[in-house]
Amino acid sequence: PSQKQALKARAAELLKAKNAVLVAHFYVDGDLQDLALETGGCVSDSLEMARFGRDHEASTLVVAGVRFMGESAKILSPEKRVLMPDLDATCSLDLGCPADQFAAFCDAHPDRTVVVYANTSAAVKARADWMVTSSCALEIVSALKAEGKKILWAPDRHLGRYIEEQTGADMLMWAGDCIVHNEFKGLELQLLREQHPEAKILVHPESPQSVVALADVVGSTSALIKAVVEGEAQEYIVATDNGILHRMRQLAPTKTLIEAPTAGSSATCKSCAHCPWMAMNGLQGLVDCLERGLPEIEIDEATRVKALGCIERMLDFTA
Ligand code: 13P
Ligand code: SF4
Repeated sequence: PSQKQALKARAAELLKAKNAVLVAHFYVDGDLQDLALETGGCVSDSLEMARFGRDHEASTLVVAGVRFMGESAKILSPEKRVLMPDLDATCSLDLGCPADQFAAFCDAHPDRTVVVYANTSAAVKARADWMVTSSCALEIVSALKAEGKKILWAPDRHLGRYIEEQTGADMLMWAGDCIVHNEFKGLELQLLREQHPEAKILVHPESPQSVVALADVVGSTSALIKAVVEGEAQEYIVATDNGILHRMRQLAPTKTLIEAPTAGSSATCKSCAHCPWMAMNGLQGLVDCLERGLPEIEIDEATRVKALGCIERMLDFTA
């Protein structure tokens, strides 16, 4: 067998031996996504990763994604061991929203309902009333608006602006962004569409307004996959991390998928849209972390208990 096959077989053996299940995001290495599905784990968007980890009976969750995903799993299941191949796999949204500065922002606006994106630390979630992911943000903010609530939103400014436009809610915003989606360019996308007039444009809402404005479908990673699988068009231009193409190709092998242009894509590389932190997950790292039982996500109990409410509220709302 190839080295890759040997590593996959070893990882599968270790998952079984350690009573562990692999919970993977659509942006990680395709081999990890396949392994998760082959071993009874899941590959999904961040909302379903949280739900799957909470509901699964395994005593260890191995999260292949970025740190906030591992933290959400631990907040929901303190009795489980939560391992990640590399705890340095973070997210620019999480990095750009330090808990102390965020707390000061909340303190300055006590009249607002605090809604945070999943892509934040446990300490930021501990200050929030609601957590949302891109698959449920519109519904939750619409419901809050209907109750007359004013919102304090953090940290993704593009997603925040999209929700504000769609719902008409009163939203005061933090100014973070995703380094991957922020690089998609509206003008270049328009030129690409002129070359592919029949193609449907699929956009993750962390992208800039000029890109979202051209979209046929705006949605979470799972919503974009569904759009390719169920769509009648033959061609799709995809404006999100290109790790998603693996699952799209598996589920819709006859469709043509084209990566949306990023700032550097014409000059230096054709596939620049890939999260450097998601890329820290690989088969070798997975095998190592299962063998060593490390690194493990740990969250102090007081923070965990405070952060739990906003995640449970979201899971109950979307159940
Ligand atoms: P989803 O919740 O749509 O999977 O998005 C997570 C993420 O990090 C997107 O960059
Ligand atoms: Fe964060 Fe962007 Fe990476 Fe998603 S793709 S984990 S939002 S940096």
